[in-house]
Amino acid sequence: MPGPGMDLIGEEEIQEVMEVLRGGYLFRYGISLGADVDPRFKGKVYQVEREIAEYCGLRHAVAVNSGTSALLTALAGLGIGPGDEVIVQGYTFIASLSSIVYSRAIPVLAEVDRTFNLDPDDVKKKITPRTRAIMAVHMMGNPARLNELRAIADERGLLLIEDCCQAFGATYHGRPVGSIGHAGAFSFNVYKTITSGDGGMVVTDDEQVYTRCFAFHDQGHSPLRTGVEIGKRPFIGLDFRFTELQAAVLIAQFRKLPQILTHLRTNKRRYKEILSDIPGLEFREITDPQGECATMLTVILPNETVARRIAHDLGTKVAADAGWHVYSNMEQILEQRTITPEKCPFTCSPYTSRGGEMRYAKGMLPRTDELLARSLNISIGVSDPGLSSAFGVTMKDGLDVVEERATRFRQVALQHLNAR
Ligand SMILES: Cc1ncc(COP(=O)(O)O)c(C=O)c1O
Repeated sequence: MPGPGMDLIGEEEIQEVMEVLRGGYLFRYGISLGADVDPRFKGKVYQVEREIAEYCGLRHAVAVNSGTSALLTALAGLGIGPGDEVIVQGYTFIASLSSIVYSRAIPVLAEVDRTFNLDPDDVKKKITPRTRAIMAVHMMGNPARLNELRAIADERGLLLIEDCCQAFGATYHGRPVGSIGHAGAFSFNVYKTITSGDGGMVVTDDEQVYTRCFAFHDQGHSPLRTGVEIGKRPFIGLDFRFTELQAAVLIAQFRKLPQILTHLRTNKRRYKEILSDIPGLEFREITDPQGECATMLTVILPNETVARRIAHDLGTKVAADAGWHVYSNMEQILEQRTITPEKCPFTCSPYTSRGGEMRYAKGMLPRTDELLARSLNISIGVSDPGLSSAFGVTMKDGLDVVEERATRFRQVALQHLNAR
């Protein structure tokens, strides 16, 4: 199964969905739109927005239909648009970059460090007069160096967006991810900690950002479509609405989060212990070991040859070969393949008139390339070929399977490390 939440779909989700179906209201507003509320309308979308905002310790959340929409909505909510640059890492899912391009802003690629997340030193080097924001992606369930990134943002007058799509449930020194930047975006697709099939959520503490996010995700409407609409819509919006059925599943999944995290953390701890004394094998740096989701375990080998041999024998790939998550494998970004031939926003005047010129190329992030070529992602609860985490365990596996898989990994690693 792709992710831990999906492995636990059961009676609780069925009950929640049946409640919605029996009531007959599938749309987030019911149909009465402000008239007397029919008790059969359960308001699940609103409920899950409130639950997740509260969990994040923030005032606002807007549920949307995917993590990609959540990022796009967050960017719109923060007012990022033509001519702006957003600094983002080169090791991330394509949606981090595509959401910036569809905001008509420019992704500026930066290196990751041994956290496999944004390197604050490289971020500083990539700042230009056009920079509006930093997008920190919490890859594979682990928070980025948020203290450093928030400090850079505050010092330089930039916005910090957290792409938490792979990290729902992670905390950073006690605070849930998504609550440290100016806005955070979650995904609930099937590879994520909890799932509603597809789905997403934007979180923010800022009232104005919330109002803008709400408007963007629902045709320019004010929050919950309350108040007089005509004449008051702040801008042209779209439709990225979540449905009552998806929200029902997400509510049941959210209740399972503590159970999921406990299970993953126990399994990861044991897996790591079994590999911990292998000379030459190192682990990814974790910024807050108490707060990680523990969906994956990432190991770093001394060189690419050894890493490739181990991956080959275990039927998996090195992180660099994960087609969906590495900039150098994203031909649509490298060649700026936009939907029309003039290649806006890269070539259009809001950017070029400010002196902007963007070229992407394989090899432009040498430290990221080098690190990913000698690293392997092991599944602890997220088995995603797009992250090359084919080898490992799933949410359904107990410590016996962990022992067996980790022992196999250990044997193969020792064999190739000793043969160096
Ligand atoms: C880091 C990251 N950002 C954004 C997304 C987009 O989420 P979705 O697939 O729900 O659109 C994903 C999903 O895989 C992701 O991993």
